Amino acid sequence: MRCALAKSGIIQKWNLMSSSYDKFYGHSIKTHEEMDAWIGLFSDLIPKKGMDVLDIGCGTGEMSILLAQLGHHVTGIDLAEKMLQVANNKTKKKGLNVKFVKGDAEDPPFDSNEFDVIVTRHLFWTLLQPEKAVKCWKRILKNNGKIIIIDGVYYDLSLKGKILLSISDILIFLIDRKKPQRGYSKEINSILPNLGGMPLKKAKNYLDLEDFKNIQVVNLENIIKIEKKTMPLRKRLAFRKEYYAICGLK
Ligand SMILES: C[S@@+](CC[C@H](N)C(=O)[O-])C[C@H]1O[C@@H](n2cnc3c(N)ncnc32)[C@H](O)[C@@H]1O
Repeated sequence: MRCALAKSGIIQKWNLMSSSYDKFYGHSIKTHEEMDAWIGLFSDLIPKKGMDVLDIGCGTGEMSILLAQLGHHVTGIDLAEKMLQVANNKTKKKGLNVKFVKGDAEDPPFDSNEFDVIVTRHLFWTLLQPEKAVKCWKRILKNNGKIIIIDGVYYDLSLKGKILLSISDILIFLIDRKKPQRGYSKEINSILPNLGGMPLKKAKNYLDLEDFKNIQVVNLENIIKIEKKTMPLRKRLAFRKEYYAICGLK
C-alpha cells in the first residue's frame, strides 16, 4: 500500500474520532491526581520556563494545553484538521494561547533549529516512517534542544496478556455493543512498524540512530495506576503493558 494512500486513511480515522477522542480512557486527563502526575513529569523534564515547545501529533491538544499552562510557548501539529479544531476550542475556552498547525510529523513544516523542546505522546504506533520522522525532529530542534517521547506497549502479547485481552474484548462487546478495533484497516495496519506500541528498547534505538545524547528514561507506571482508577474493569483488564518517557538532547 502506498504511503500517501495510507496517510489519507489515517487522517480520515482521526477526523472521525475527533469528537469522541477525549472520552476514551488513557488520553484526556481525567482526575486532579493524574493532572498532578503530568505536571510533575513536565516540570522535571523541562525545568526552565518560557521554552518554545512543539507537540507533534498533538491530537485534541491535551499535552499542548498542559505545557502552555506551565508557561511555555507551545505549537501543536497534527495531520487531522478536526482534531486540531477540538484542540483549538479547548485552548480558547481556557484562555490560553497555543498555535495549532496542520502538518505531518514525518515532514514537519518548520525551519531548522526552531524549538527548544519537542514533545510527542502516543504517536509512534501510527507513524509509517518513524526513522524519517525522528531525523526531521532533530533538524527542527535547537542545538542542545530536548526531545521527549511518551509512549509504551499498548497490548501485552504474552499468553496471560492475550487471555485478558480476549476477556476484555468479550466484555466490551457484551456491555458496550462495540467490536474493539485496533488501529486502522488490515492494509494500513500491515505497514505500520509499531502497531500495538513501541518497547522502550526500540524507542532508544530511534534516538541512538540520530545520535541524541544524554538519554534519560522515566518509568510512567504511576500514571498507568492512576488512569486505571477511573476505568471500568473491562478496560482495565488489558490496559497498557509498558509506559515511559524517554528524552535525549540534540
Ligand atoms: C493517539 S493520538 C495522540 C494524540 C495526542 N498526542 C495525545 O497524546 O492525546 C495520535 C494523533 O496523531 C495524529 N497523527 C497520525 N499520524 C500523524 C502524522 N504523520 N503527522 C502528524 N500527526 C499524525 C493523529 O491525527 C492523532 O491526532
